[in-house]
Amino acid sequence: MNRTHHCAQLTKADLDTTVSLAGWVDSIRDHGGINFIDLRDRNGITQVKFDPQDDANLGGRAAHLKPESVISITGKVVERPEGTVNSSLPTGEIEVNATVLEILNASETPPFPLDDAGGDKVNEDLRLTYRYLDLRRPKMTKNLQIRHKASKSIRDYFDSQEFIEIETPSLFKSTPEGAREYLVPSRIHPGEFYALSQSPQQYKQILMVAGVEKYFQIARCFRDEDLRADRQMEFTQVDVEASFVTREDIYALFEGMLKKVWKDVLGTEIETPILRMPFHEAMNRFGVDKPDMRFGLELVDFTETFKKSSFKVFSGTANGGGSIKAINAKGLADITQGELKNLEEAAKSLGAKGLAFIKIEGGEWKSPIVKFFNDEEKAALTAQLNIEDGDIIFFAASEWEQACAILGRVRLDAAQLLVKREKLTIRHDDWKFVWVIEFPLMSYDEERGGFAATHHPFTSPVPEDIELLDSDPKKVRGQHYDLVLNGMELGGGSIRIHQPELQKKVFEDVLKIPQDVVESRFGYMLKAFTFGAPPHGGIAFGLDRMVALLCGTTSIRDVIAFPKTQRGQDLMAQSPTPVTAKQLKELHIQTVVPTEE
Ligand code: AMO
Ligand code: AMP
Repeated sequence: MNRTHHCAQLTKADLDTTVSLAGWVDSIRDHGGINFIDLRDRNGITQVKFDPQDDANLGGRAAHLKPESVISITGKVVERPEGTVNSSLPTGEIEVNATVLEILNASETPPFPLDDAGGDKVNEDLRLTYRYLDLRRPKMTKNLQIRHKASKSIRDYFDSQEFIEIETPSLFKSTPEGAREYLVPSRIHPGEFYALSQSPQQYKQILMVAGVEKYFQIARCFRDEDLRADRQMEFTQVDVEASFVTREDIYALFEGMLKKVWKDVLGTEIETPILRMPFHEAMNRFGVDKPDMRFGLELVDFTETFKKSSFKVFSGTANGGGSIKAINAKGLADITQGELKNLEEAAKSLGAKGLAFIKIEGGEWKSPIVKFFNDEEKAALTAQLNIEDGDIIFFAASEWEQACAILGRVRLDAAQLLVKREKLTIRHDDWKFVWVIEFPLMSYDEERGGFAATHHPFTSPVPEDIELLDSDPKKVRGQHYDLVLNGMELGGGSIRIHQPELQKKVFEDVLKIPQDVVESRFGYMLKAFTFGAPPHGGIAFGLDRMVALLCGTTSIRDVIAFPKTQRGQDLMAQSPTPVTAKQLKELHIQTVVPTEE
């Protein structure tokens, strides 16, 4: 198997040379007894010709090959006859006249076609069951290569900035305030558990106390979350922490990284500095803290306009401290009943009581509520929403954040409907980065009846807001930042609290975690902080999400070699599985499996 070339390498410059190639039979075609095989390896395809006139035996064996069999061939590079040149292939001007064929391993017929178009049509579960075949598809092969390039570019960048990569443990301890965690029973300590690390957050802060100054890690993280297209239970962060830094330093550091990665992987220049937008503005204009800024359809506030409205839903909300927001879905007056119903359902899933709308058709305003609007209100809407024939306006009347979130969702769904009608273009490679900043440090958790950290409890308040921690925690802004790209949260981080007294105050006085619990969970950290903790801050990026966007896909499963399904299963290896009674006993574990009714 002495390969002389890979399958995307040979050109007219190699004519008349004898070469050896190895790979998979991508396809086989019989042209009047002459067999043509497209031989594929991870680089591409070369056409190989088996002419029975040259060697009848060879031609006969080639004719019986099934796709995906592994072969190696030797032969001479010849020019393709006129009219058979394939300009879409780098090797499209040549073919190899085989004189030797070795069948290295025959293949069964694959359960689905392995070309990009065919493979995209099959059920994802089938692809995941035969992931080794799915990964042979050119598109998936390319995704893995892009992921490698991105990781390498990131490592080179942080190395050039004098950061060092340090591995931190995956077996950590349970700190239940984050996402739900995976527990690992200890054999040596009966009844005790490790928790798989949700992120290296605490270790990386301790590394700052240890004097490392500049740390990074491409780190595996584990969270027992409900899985979605952008969420896996096991995922990878580009995790960074540095001492003696401000928010500005982190922005500049990461903008440098993004610039390099986009250049190395795609050859694209991205513009810096990246736009910054306070959380409040993001909510007010886009209805979400991860705005997709590739298109308009922005939210507009009409709370003042409707204070005296005869439509009681609006005036009631406006005078009761709530907000009235509207968006103009430009050109979507032709929305179908079914589509409208779906939008309404989406709004209701976010707590909307309804989704009032006005269609503008033939110069007329059509809506069950238009009778309530006076001329002044109509003029305000027309002016601020740039209303024209063919538009449809949606309203949300609710508490501020909820009204924003409802229309934020309507905005995204309406945009998709406009894309479907070719009235709006959203390109995956229109890179609209934005730093979302000035998040509130704490948010009130109605369910628990107390404050919860918006990001995590280690985030430092903005210095001028510290005095509000006791009197009005809701108003305190955190030194937190998120990096958002095209509607996806790519990363988040903050400047941390490094003073033990302030950290203790946040745990005990603001988050109301009992002192003994603080001691058992975070005591070691508070103690470390008493031995000269430098001011520090950092960020973590979702590598899977970043690579997905670089590959032009919205599902991170497409850029993870062996992802779990939405139901948390590995369909290929078939996990999770039951274990033996002996294993459980050794781990001091008893299971109680709910019986199905
Ligand atoms: P955070 O929880 O915001 O911050 O996570 C950082 C980034 O990790 C990615 N991410 C995920 N990707 C795939 N699947 C998941 N289940 C998943 N969860 C998170 C996202 C997210 O922006 N320690 C802090 C960071 C810091 O403060 O430095 C942290 O983990 O892209
Ligand atoms: P009603 O007067 O309750 O029948 O509502 C008239 C229209 O307003 C219907 O289309 C409702 O879906 C809509 N609507 C009701 N409450 C709200 C609200 N809070 N925000 C936006 N639209 C609403």
